[in-house]
Amino acid sequence: MYPTREEAERLLVEAEECNPGPWDDHSRVVAHCAEEIAKRCGMDSEKAYVLGLLHDIGRKYGKRHLGHVSDGYSYMMSLGYDEVARICLSHSFNEHDLDQYIGNFDTSEEETKLIREGLDAMEYDDYDLLIQLCDAIGGAEGVVDMALRMEDVKSRYGAYPQEKWDKNMWLKNYFERKMGEDLYIAVDKENYRPVKGGNV
Ligand SMILES: [Fe+2]
Repeated sequence: MYPTREEAERLLVEAEECNPGPWDDHSRVVAHCAEEIAKRCGMDSEKAYVLGLLHDIGRKYGKRHLGHVSDGYSYMMSLGYDEVARICLSHSFNEHDLDQYIGNFDTSEEETKLIREGLDAMEYDDYDLLIQLCDAIGGAEGVVDMALRMEDVKSRYGAYPQEKWDKNMWLKNYFERKMGEDLYIAVDKENYRPVKGGNV
């Protein structure tokens, strides 16, 4: 289950009011990219858009690192949106491994257990992979070059694991092969800009 486009947009606006920050426009960029890529791969573009828009919805509950993953999962499960809940978990772990998380482990024991068990029970599908890719190219002001973004993360956190870097490049190639098109052209990197308050 996942919400309609309109409901997803409403949830994002509401969440942004609780914890203002650039993450809402980042979410819009991710949603845009997911929709455009999905259209070109024979995937459900509406579902891709909604999953992209809500992947970081856990940020509603404040400025947390790993905590936004469990917050998002629990919030979406409470609304019955299990397909979004899994994306809240899977988007941060492109290697399917909790220990590869970049950022602070600021979760309680219970929250960490929830994430670990959720990941263990999950087999990634193309929607999980799609949002991981879009998260890696979604800036707050528009689409960013994946390699430049990884450099940025590296400078903010001091390191960027090679395996994660390689996995992101693998994701880019995987979807480019599916689309038969260059990623940045497909998502109109040069021209697309998010619109505050929604561009649906
Ligand atoms: Fe994100």
